[in-house]
Amino acid sequence: MKTINIGVLGFGVVGTGVAKLLKEKKQLLEERTGAVLNLKAIADIDTKRNRGIGLGATILTPDADILINDPDIDIIVETIGGETIAKDFILKALGQKKHVVTANKALLARHGNDLVKTAKENQVDLAFEASCGGCIPIIKSLRESLVANHIRSMAAILNGTCNYILTKISRDGSAFKDALKDAQALGYAEAEPSLDIDGFDTAHKLAILNSLAHGMEINLKDIHVEGIRNITPVDIEFAREFGYAIKLLAIGKIHDKHVEARVHPTMIPFSNPLAHVDGSMNAVVIDADATEQTMLYGRGAGMMPTASAVLSDIVDIARNIISDAGRRVPVLGCQEDHIRPIPILPMSELYTRYYLRFEAQDHPGVLAKISGILGENNISIESVHQKGRKNNGKVPVVMITHTAKEAWVQKALTEISKTDSVVGDPVVIRIEEAVRE
Ligand code: HSE
Repeated sequence: MKTINIGVLGFGVVGTGVAKLLKEKKQLLEERTGAVLNLKAIADIDTKRNRGIGLGATILTPDADILINDPDIDIIVETIGGETIAKDFILKALGQKKHVVTANKALLARHGNDLVKTAKENQVDLAFEASCGGCIPIIKSLRESLVANHIRSMAAILNGTCNYILTKISRDGSAFKDALKDAQALGYAEAEPSLDIDGFDTAHKLAILNSLAHGMEINLKDIHVEGIRNITPVDIEFAREFGYAIKLLAIGKIHDKHVEARVHPTMIPFSNPLAHVDGSMNAVVIDADATEQTMLYGRGAGMMPTASAVLSDIVDIARNIISDAGRRVPVLGCQEDHIRPIPILPMSELYTRYYLRFEAQDHPGVLAKISGILGENNISIESVHQKGRKNNGKVPVVMITHTAKEAWVQKALTEISKTDSVVGDPVVIRIEEAVRE
């Protein structure tokens, strides 16, 4: 049986999970792959820490170049993360004609187009199943399983930290900062959590998925990104009363000449299965022309779920190697000469429904004033709730609009803020509709 040699860069959580699976599932992987998957070497600056795994003949070195320059290593697995040395190592490995597997969504979102080009120049594979949604086979689904479809839209929960926090606020009425502390204590959220809670991690993943879904160049910079810092138990409770959950969604939709790409807290009706994806779980709903809706659900992070996704890439590449079929599946799911830039719709051009919450002065005429300004800006109100929850003379006024243009809504909100009818900034949460049955 042929031996495929593997070098792993980074011996942290994911690298350790990959080493464990290669060791503990050796026989199963051989039976399924038709080759011996040999973990030849691991590189990490920390060669001393005990990761609880016996390495046998596997070399552990602080020098990544030893792996990258080893002519016997066929596949380099990058689990370092970040955009600096990881990028240099991947480019060098591709240049050495090694196939590369990476879980690095930030790097792919920012530099993926260059990496794809370099992989093509060197006629090697670049695979990244673990970059989006942990163990969920979303990359393979888009690249292979749904190949006969035009993808119309995707809506996804792709950040377990945010989903855990929103679930906690929703279930316990916790304030955002307490829910964040809880997520940190449980190891879901980082000590410096902004990448997750401000929506950027989700945007990285959306940039990758949009490219695979629509055959477009990876475009991170034009994605609209809002995080969950301003979500309060009050809004989650109002949403529930209207029949909605609030989730941080990645939304990608194709139009004639544009793609919608946005990440923000979103109200979704309880009839949408994404509304019931709770805790740290991830899920993606893909609406495609032949299949209609498909939903994938699973663990978006963690040592073994992420390592499982990395192993699926390793096995794919190993199977390609033994059947001499390298680059059988195009890196972005579409032959490279058909990948094109598709502009992302400017947010001001978006049409959707809105939840608006104002802290209004409790005196006559206030509601008329707010609705008057909305009307002047072409915004039609579907329902209004004003509850007797008086707080220092202010009452929350909540409105759900019919479909309106984002530019109209922003203009109206600026005008309303200038009146003496409301205090503070209004809360604005966009609404997505139910999944079609
Ligand atoms: N930090 C991510 C999350 C996992 O909270 O889901 C890795 O992408």
